[in-house]
Amino acid sequence: MSQKYIIGNWKLNPKNEKEAVAIFTKIKKDLSLLKYKVIICPPSIFIPALSKIKTTNITLGLQNTAIEDTGAYTGQVSVGTALSYKIKYCIVGHSESRANGDTDERVAKKVGYILKSKITPILCVGERERDEAHTYFAFIENQLKSALLGISKKNIESMIIAYEPIWAIGRDAVRDATPEEFYEVKIFIKKVLKESFGVSVVPILYGGSVTAKNAESFMTAGHADGLLVGRASVDPKSLQSISSITKNTK
Ligand code: PGA
Repeated sequence: MSQKYIIGNWKLNPKNEKEAVAIFTKIKKDLSLLKYKVIICPPSIFIPALSKIKTTNITLGLQNTAIEDTGAYTGQVSVGTALSYKIKYCIVGHSESRANGDTDERVAKKVGYILKSKITPILCVGERERDEAHTYFAFIENQLKSALLGISKKNIESMIIAYEPIWAIGRDAVRDATPEEFYEVKIFIKKVLKESFGVSVVPILYGGSVTAKNAESFMTAGHADGLLVGRASVDPKSLQSISSITKNTK
């Protein structure tokens, strides 16, 4: 079985360190037998505390990064400053970060900087809305090509890509995406990566309102290489249900 992933994007949750530690400790227990690679991306302020908790089955990641280790970046964190806390991954290009000013150009700079820091980028792409003219394919292609411009084949092959249609994310989701919709885009992303970068082995994850109810179908009918889970990942019970459903999928 190829490596499969469950990535928890906690966003700005929970409210304090005590709760963060309690949730992380529960997740650590619940997922101990999991065959998947589990990556938790908490708010960076909780990373020092969480990195002290001994675990062999959860790896920590950042939700975003500045484009340099240090400098005039008020309010930001960088993978460089977080390295001593054992982080190994960093989400980049999440739609909520793009909405806060991360342009395609800045996302590209961040991808380059994260790779240079020997951290694995989890690159998010996804269209704002679905249209009948299928222009979302062109939108996704553009996001991929601009984020990966100048990145070597070897480096792209070390990354994770998550398809997260914005219309299916969070409490404002218009509706759920279907596994078939995901699979169609997964095939398209693979085609772009192959034709433009000669790359054929990048894990492609689904994200957007993943729950215990729909997780299995994205892994089976959707052929996802893993799931990027937002809200449900801060609730240990939900994350455990997602994990137990997906642990038997090939
Ligand atoms: P959600 O968030 O699972 O709460 O929809 C997913 C994401 O934004 O990564």
